[in-house]
Amino acid sequence: MCKVRQLLIFLSCLFTSTNSTNVSSCISNTPCKCLLTEDSFTLLNCSYSLPDLPIFNSNTSLNITKIIARHALIRWPLHLCSYSNIEILDLSGSYLDAQYMDLSCVSQLLFLNLSNTQIRKIPNFRRYGLKNLQTLDLSNNQIEVLDGSLLRSLNNLVTLNVENNPLKYIDYFDYILGLSSLESINLMSSSSTLTTKKQLSAIQWTNLAHKWNSSNKYFSIRTNTFSLQSIFPNPDQFQMIPLDSMKIIFQTLSNSTFTTLFSTPPCNCVHLRNYQRVFSFTYYNKNLSPLYQTTTCILPNGIIHARLFDYRTFF
Ligand SMILES: *[C@@H]1O[C@H](CO)[C@@H](O)[C@H](O)[C@H]1NC(C)=O
Ligand SMILES: *[C@@H]1O[C@H](CO)[C@@H](O)[C@H](O)[C@H]1NC(C)=O
Ligand SMILES: *[C@@H]1O[C@H](CO)[C@@H](O)[C@H](O)[C@H]1NC(C)=O
Ligand SMILES: *[C@@H]1O[C@H](CO)[C@@H](O)[C@H](O)[C@H]1NC(C)=O
Ligand SMILES: *[C@@H]1O[C@H](CO)[C@@H](O)[C@H](O)[C@H]1NC(C)=O
Ligand SMILES: *[C@@H]1O[C@H](CO)[C@@H](O)[C@H](O)[C@H]1NC(C)=O
Ligand SMILES: *[C@@H]1O[C@H](CO)[C@@H](O)[C@H](O)[C@H]1NC(C)=O
Repeated sequence: MCKVRQLLIFLSCLFTSTNSTNVSSCISNTPCKCLLTEDSFTLLNCSYSLPDLPIFNSNTSLNITKIIARHALIRWPLHLCSYSNIEILDLSGSYLDAQYMDLSCVSQLLFLNLSNTQIRKIPNFRRYGLKNLQTLDLSNNQIEVLDGSLLRSLNNLVTLNVENNPLKYIDYFDYILGLSSLESINLMSSSSTLTTKKQLSAIQWTNLAHKWNSSNKYFSIRTNTFSLQSIFPNPDQFQMIPLDSMKIIFQTLSNSTFTTLFSTPPCNCVHLRNYQRVFSFTYYNKNLSPLYQTTTCILPNGIIHARLFDYRTFF
């Protein structure tokens, strides 16, 4: 406590004395360097020496909209609530214990970077009501379960990065696909297979198509562990999805890539024909689309990955 108070006095002095400054050492007994401006502060070179964020007097804190503290903290900062107007928060590289994570007092967040913070779970965003959040970076962590229901309230989320986590399975993927502003999700995983991956039903895809029905909607999925076929209904159920909806779905996903190393499904003659038929109805320049290029099935020889949508793939 004593240390924190010292810090507070020191920083508020500093802050009132100048609008923007670089100081050589801003928090005593740490290697931290601070860059302060009227509306942001950046902590540099702390190298895991901070148990919490420094605090200013309340008027100053409320003017801060941007905090960058990379590789700085050794646990979740309880003082975060002093900065209730921040819009940009980058705590990447710090050690954060998800158990104490609390974002309920920073409801203005637009950008949140929790990359490389050793978290094991998706924070429960349902609790926080981050209605404005547009960018969420959870890459390079230890997350094994991607539970879409925890992200369901993030209606303004545009980019979700879950790259390089040892993901084992995804729950409620339809909630993620249905987020109204989401344009891209990076699921490039550090584990070799996503073991449990429930297919979405024909009805769920039809509902998604209904939500995606606007000319400019693109949804880009990047994955190396599961195939399109594993989240799509079996082709014998394709007739349950109206052709209009099918077009919307493939158009919206045209920028997605489904490369899989270990879980490419075998080619099936009847399925191939169904996939190729529905794909042939889509209007865009399909041969150039990443979806067309990367979605494959494996031929009976067990070696060749053939393009699922290419009518030349048959056997
Ligand atoms: C403070 O440091 C930053 C980056 O290290 C530099 O761009 C900026 O010009 C410096 N400002 C002052 C006032 O020295
Ligand atoms: C932070 O540390 C790096 C490497 O030790 C050094 O090059 C850089 O100048 C330091 N930054 C500041 C603001 O002192
Ligand atoms: C904060 O601002 C209010 C009104 O602008 C003022 O009355 C108050 O004294 C300020 N508090 C501090 C700690 O500067
Ligand atoms: C907060 O920002 C307002 C508007 O930019 C400014 O007038 C005020 O002086 C700032 N307060 C502090 C404590 O920096
Ligand atoms: C988050 O932080 C990491 C590491 O500091 C950085 O590489 C990444 O680009 C940041 N993410 C975003 C969305 O800016
Ligand atoms: C998409 O929107 C158009 C125009 O609003 C409508 O006529 C069409 O039925 C919709 N299609 C689907 C699959 O929702
Ligand atoms: C497709 O994805 C690439 C790479 O992520 C991106 O640069 C491009 O803007 C996307 N195109 C569309 C139409 O979304």
